[in-house]
Amino acid sequence: SSVSRPRSAENRQIVPSAGQIRASTFKVAILGAAGGIGQPLSLLIKMSPLISGLHLYDIANVKGVAADLSHCNTPAQILDFTGPAELANSLKDVDVVVIPAGVPRKPGMTRDDLFNINAGIVRTLVEAVADNSPNAFIQIISNPVNSTVPIAAEVLKKKGVYDPKKLFGVTTLDVVRANTFVAQKKNLRLIDVDVPVVGGHAGITILPLLSKTKPSVTFTQDEIEQLTIRIQNAGTEVVEAKAGAGSATLSMAYAAARFVESSLRALDGDPDVYECSYIQSELTELPFFASRIKLGKKGVEAVIASDLEGLTEYEQKSLEALKPELKASIEKGIAFANK
Ligand code: NAD
Ligand code: LMR
Repeated sequence: SSVSRPRSAENRQIVPSAGQIRASTFKVAILGAAGGIGQPLSLLIKMSPLISGLHLYDIANVKGVAADLSHCNTPAQILDFTGPAELANSLKDVDVVVIPAGVPRKPGMTRDDLFNINAGIVRTLVEAVADNSPNAFIQIISNPVNSTVPIAAEVLKKKGVYDPKKLFGVTTLDVVRANTFVAQKKNLRLIDVDVPVVGGHAGITILPLLSKTKPSVTFTQDEIEQLTIRIQNAGTEVVEAKAGAGSATLSMAYAAARFVESSLRALDGDPDVYECSYIQSELTELPFFASRIKLGKKGVEAVIASDLEGLTEYEQKSLEALKPELKASIEKGIAFANK
């Protein structure tokens, strides 16, 4: 079954070995490309042999980033787009749109504290995506993801172009962190470890399913609680360490590059591509929920429902506990988009 596939398919490196290099065909747009995430993400994506064009959009400072990146001798052609007048052109003919535009947290803030600024940014950008690249995969990084993805869905519905299989909240960083922390704690080879993380992308809505860790690992209850809390607070750990200078950018760029590369492999016909993502979902009673999914040419091809079966009592309780918060964040996003 899909869950017993080889581990190597899940933990594929974002930089392919020479033997894997194929013709570059896909175009990717990054909205917010001059930011803390946008710059290293653009660099990592520029390294993909699957990409023929990389469109960098931001409201400022994007020309320099583009000039700099364009000197790397990898196939992707870099084009730069500055400000709202050039937004539409940045989206023409692209297969994947990644959105890391918006303000990051400072110490003491929750992700929801970013709502007032970022909700409007995401709404405006997704309106442009709907008008100019309605068939692209849309990957939202801007926080609060629990609300910005429902906002994007509503915008796309209003424009009559919503395809729930092609709208993704990027939660790959939660998986990247879970894999790292579990490997460290249990002294495992990082490349072998895969922990599904479900729910949403804020505080207790981030639920790592440690009982589903591959390879199979035994944890004490203490270890489970410590690891769960560390994974849930990892974003805050970085916000505090940066002490006012922003939130995770490098690990986020790494995680998003992995998600983009997986999407491109799926678009390219690879039949074995799985990632966790926050999507419109019927897995629970909530309309949006992060879980493992199979990616295909048309976007979400399947939701791996078995991950929510046979949960431990702790996981089941945590799942029930996260639902009210996640539901409220979803409703807040929908209300914003419809007001
Ligand atoms: P940043 O401030 O360094 O960069 C944001 C960029 O967005 C800037 O270059 C800015 O000019 C640009 N921008 C602002 N308004 C824009 C608009 N209307 N159109 C286009 N671009 C616009 O912030 P960052 O550290 O890169 O973080 C960006 C967002 O990503 C934040 O909301 C942060 O909370 C979120 N984030 C999400 C995850 C996740 O796991 N999903 C992880 C880390 C950060
Ligand atoms: C993260 O998880 O690092 C991001 O969502 C940024 C944040 O505000 O913590």
